[in-house]
Amino acid sequence: MSRFILSFDQGTTSSRAILFNREGEIRGIAQREFEQIFPQPGWVEHDAEEIWASQSGVADEVMSNAGISADDIAAIGITNQRETTVVWDRSTGRPIHRAIVWQDRRTSERIDRLKGGEGEALITRRTGLVPDAYFAGSKIEWILDHVEGARARAERGELAFGTIDCWLVYRLTGGSVHVTDASNAARTMLYNIETCAWDEDLMKVFRVPASMLPEVRSSSEVYGEVSAGLACRGVPIAGMAGDQNAALFGQLCHEPGNVKNTYGTGCFMLMNSGDQPRKSSHRLLSTIAWQFDGKMTYALEGSVFVGGAVVQWLRDGLKMIEKSADIQGLAGSVADSGGVYFVPAFAGLGAPHWDQYARGTIFGLTRGTTSAHIARAAVESMAFQSADLLDAMVADADAPIPELRVDGGATRDEILLQFQSDVLQMPIVRPTMVETTALGAAYLAGLATGFWGSVDELVANWKVDRVFEPRMPPDQVAEKRANWNKAVRRSLGWLT
Ligand code: G3P
Repeated sequence: MSRFILSFDQGTTSSRAILFNREGEIRGIAQREFEQIFPQPGWVEHDAEEIWASQSGVADEVMSNAGISADDIAAIGITNQRETTVVWDRSTGRPIHRAIVWQDRRTSERIDRLKGGEGEALITRRTGLVPDAYFAGSKIEWILDHVEGARARAERGELAFGTIDCWLVYRLTGGSVHVTDASNAARTMLYNIETCAWDEDLMKVFRVPASMLPEVRSSSEVYGEVSAGLACRGVPIAGMAGDQNAALFGQLCHEPGNVKNTYGTGCFMLMNSGDQPRKSSHRLLSTIAWQFDGKMTYALEGSVFVGGAVVQWLRDGLKMIEKSADIQGLAGSVADSGGVYFVPAFAGLGAPHWDQYARGTIFGLTRGTTSAHIARAAVESMAFQSADLLDAMVADADAPIPELRVDGGATRDEILLQFQSDVLQMPIVRPTMVETTALGAAYLAGLATGFWGSVDELVANWKVDRVFEPRMPPDQVAEKRANWNKAVRRSLGWLT
């Protein structure tokens, strides 16, 4: 009997393959970072071939390190950085342009032209999103308009579009399966989350031919088997969801009102909002959490574009630290940020501001400011941005939110979680397993193939590691949040 589920976690900065056993414990992990390409300020690209090579490479590596074969794996689950857009030639399987990453701002002006008109109303009403360059629709349009001959080829049915989940399945199945799941489709600005179908009017707005779009399937079913020449050849691919959605599933936030926050490249807070799309009055997104067991589950989402990426910037951009983990020591060497506030609006600001033209700023510098204060302010920026999301969520929710479940690599940082609890004045719950994104994808795949019998069986796998309770006096919190808000206001509209 197969002992493992293999999860592919294709994130913004690295590809990982993780083996999970029946108890939801990690039994092997392999990870590779890949190149971030910044052709112009505000543009972010990935090489889709490198994504495939790194993801297939770590899949082979984790299996060889564990000394297992395809027979030991019951199914593969895929979870991915969402919105990142790949367009490829159906005959060669080759991308016609580098992938345009979710953080990319090149289509901001195009999006501006939609604002205030029928286009904006359509997007908000039908997709639950707000018009923003973040989503895939305007990125597909840009590729078709800028790669020579692409539009004509698309009209002839020669090109295919996919988010990263779709691209990986396509490659894993040797080009025979072109599918995505409902959670990823919901991030394209082309998918109607009420009728659960591609929306012809929005396809017209973004001039995307229907023939390019993948078939939309549930998040938990067998889509095909691996036919590529990998160690996992023959294994069914049986689960698929965007990474933030998979994390909500993996945190077992299966009841309406359950909330989680994942600290990855960005920070993404999702609240299960039940079986109907729920409109936000506070500029959160209404989106599909997953489609499972014949039912659609929806979520309210707040998206912070730069979370852990601020640490990478200190490492790679400023060379302030050598490796990401060094941030804890540097930030922990001072008691507070010394009055420094860092708004990492490198890619504009997402929820609840939705300002494509905000840019990064550091306020409060004095002659006494050191790199440690800046590092501390960078860590605190993740907590402040997440607190803004939770405030919006509390204002939208029917019932109080008693706790916040957290996951993602940065939750190993206790300074961050303590500060998060302080600024929110609420308990922050860290489970023993913080690789919840990959676990959620494993659950979706394992439930589709009988590896696990039901969601109830998974409950025993979720265990609390530590609860962070607020320690900072409320008046100090109020002062810090007021300063943060002042800093955010000054970063808004910087480019306009
Ligand atoms: O929407 C973008 C998100 O899916 C990226 O996630 O984990 O790569 O920051 P992550």
